[in-house]
Amino acid sequence: MDDVSQPYASVAEFLQTHRPAEPVYCVFPHEYEGIARRFVGGFPGRVLYAVKANDYPFALYPIVAGGVRHFDCASLPEINTVMSLCDDATCYFMTPVRLRGTAAAAQSNFGVRHFLVDHPSGISLLADEIDMSKTVVFARMAVSHESAMMNLSKRFGAPPDDVPEIIAGIIATGAEPALAFNVGSSVTSPDAYSHSLNVAREVLERIPTKIRFLDIGGGFPKSYPGFPVPSLDDYFSAITRHIASLPLAENAEILGEPGRALAAPGMSAIVEVCLRKEDRLFLNDGMYGIFWELRFKGHDRYPVKAWRDGQPLEGEERAFRLFGPTCDSQDELPGDVELPADIRPGDHLEFGNIGAYSLSGRTAFNGFYSEQIITITEGRPPQ
Ligand SMILES: Cc1ncc(COP(=O)(O)O)c(C=O)c1O
Repeated sequence: MDDVSQPYASVAEFLQTHRPAEPVYCVFPHEYEGIARRFVGGFPGRVLYAVKANDYPFALYPIVAGGVRHFDCASLPEINTVMSLCDDATCYFMTPVRLRGTAAAAQSNFGVRHFLVDHPSGISLLADEIDMSKTVVFARMAVSHESAMMNLSKRFGAPPDDVPEIIAGIIATGAEPALAFNVGSSVTSPDAYSHSLNVAREVLERIPTKIRFLDIGGGFPKSYPGFPVPSLDDYFSAITRHIASLPLAENAEILGEPGRALAAPGMSAIVEVCLRKEDRLFLNDGMYGIFWELRFKGHDRYPVKAWRDGQPLEGEERAFRLFGPTCDSQDELPGDVELPADIRPGDHLEFGNIGAYSLSGRTAFNGFYSEQIITITEGRPPQ
């Protein structure tokens, strides 16, 4: 099996020397490093990579190389993965639902100092496990905006009116209080952040202490075909404008938790056409595999390029429906995809910008699961 240590200059070079029957996932470390640098350079605060978006070392290493040292984690295994790859990482345990004992293990084994609650009952659960005097505890506030493709405040987050009581509860334990929210995922307008920061301002004005940390979550989107979004700079400007006048402590810091924005760009997936039935193509990867997030609201496709014998396949196009390899009738990618009309079994399709919420959530349903990962040292995935 190939692995990340095996580099190729380009996907063309790989496909000229291999004919993979299983899906192959291509990592472009320079793309990951570049987007991490851009985010760290432009975001007006501390950048915590949301590990859930892609927890594979091949993504984490170049993100670290690009300057990220803080990580939003939701479980002990995520913390363990990060700490085993990066000695000077700081992990933040930023979920209100933890397995019993994992807060204690995070504090004692990995020195984790940042935790999160979203209900008064969560404070005592946390205080029973850890030394609160050594921690910053975020109260997570529910916010939503119509421009978010996924609302992340349905299950997590206290109504803004309840936050002052939660902050008071945190202070009573001896922990340092802080505030967090998450606008949602794939947030298509910077206004969502302005709106949420205004809600945060009202809460901050009602609490007796000035806090040092305000975590504004993830949600920074990525453009995909048919799903154009504003540039990251537009989001950074909106956030910068709004934080300037917040009633925070003098040495306060804003935290952001980008997942998709950092994880998406540095990866492509090469899949093979196994069977063609007129306008239907059956691929060796599908909705239970690398394409699973296409079942959610948001983008419904990735940029795609066709290959035959290591050469780009071009020519007249027509619309195809794409299916995964499993026996489940739901294993169909959404919409039609334009591809060269004479595409046939044995040809390969390369899907770009596929690094976020792809490897980290796929299944081995029906026995389809590839661990073939290669490094591509030049160029970019299909855009
Ligand atoms: C708490 C939290 N932070 C950050 C993220 C990352 O979101 P995104 O990938 O949209 O940036 C998520 C996504 O589920 C999340 O739940």
